[in-house]
Amino acid sequence: MRTVYAPLMAAATNHTPPRKVVIPAAGLGTRFLPATKAVPKELFPVVDTPAMQYIVEEAVRAGLTDVLVVTGRGKEAIADHFDRAPELEATLLAKGDHGRLEAVMRSADMADVHFVRQGAPRGLGHAVLCSAPYVGSEPFAVMLGDDLIDVRDPLLSTMLEVQGAYGGCVVALLEVPRNQISRYGCVAASRTHDDSVVRITDMVEKPDPDAAPSNLAIIGRYVLSARVFDALRETEPGSGGEIQLTDALKSLVAAGEPMHGVVFRGRRYDTGDRGDYLRAVVRLACDREDIGPGFRRWLEDFVAGRA
Ligand code: G1P
Repeated sequence: MRTVYAPLMAAATNHTPPRKVVIPAAGLGTRFLPATKAVPKELFPVVDTPAMQYIVEEAVRAGLTDVLVVTGRGKEAIADHFDRAPELEATLLAKGDHGRLEAVMRSADMADVHFVRQGAPRGLGHAVLCSAPYVGSEPFAVMLGDDLIDVRDPLLSTMLEVQGAYGGCVVALLEVPRNQISRYGCVAASRTHDDSVVRITDMVEKPDPDAAPSNLAIIGRYVLSARVFDALRETEPGSGGEIQLTDALKSLVAAGEPMHGVVFRGRRYDTGDRGDYLRAVVRLACDREDIGPGFRRWLEDFVAGRA
């Protein structure tokens, strides 16, 4: 991907690369009640690291260290997680526990994390619109917390390259079985010279499988031009009575905005509902160098009815 797009990027003049990333995190987490009554689902541990830290780490790996989290009522602990914790740090230092000290300081140091509150939960499009004063006029990324992307399979950095080459907006896509497409935004698209990049011609949020234009689902990574904010201001509530990001992007496509999709074929861990979350924890635990081997042995015994 890098070699394919480098010459195009060099040719693109006046391109401002994105520096900011917006992470919507105002959702009520109803699928995880009662756990989410007092604890934001963004802080649920995936092994020993909060789900949202994986997202911020991914942003930082792609070079985006200016992070805006769109939060809501009851989500204050997210800010604590990305802040320094002087008493905890002093205690760990006094104990000489440098490993844990480093882990505790890392989440505060790895990025500049800012917060804005959404006020009322009026949908993903509305959450993104809340970031408009912060983002300004530059292109920016949006990352949704339910999608964890394996560190070995870069996606966001590829999307940034594609946006550098073509301008406009870029969304992440996943080929899903037809009967699952109604859980996602879906695109109509045509091929490009690269089989992992498509040109998007239309979009629809959560279509019936029979009416879906393809089996290409939008997953939780976007690189957007700031023109999306004007589109969002004009967007009426759509699917679920909410202001949908997909509807705003659809109107941008109709207005001629270049819109591309990167078809992701790597490892993705969905933490969106209880079953997906458990699978993500088990998979990532199995892959860990420290606890993975022992956990796998136990898991094999458990599945075989020996544990
Ligand atoms: C949101 C978007 C949808 C996208 C999905 C990816 O839906 O509206 O277009 O496919 O995220 O996870 P939600 O999962 O918030 O219903």
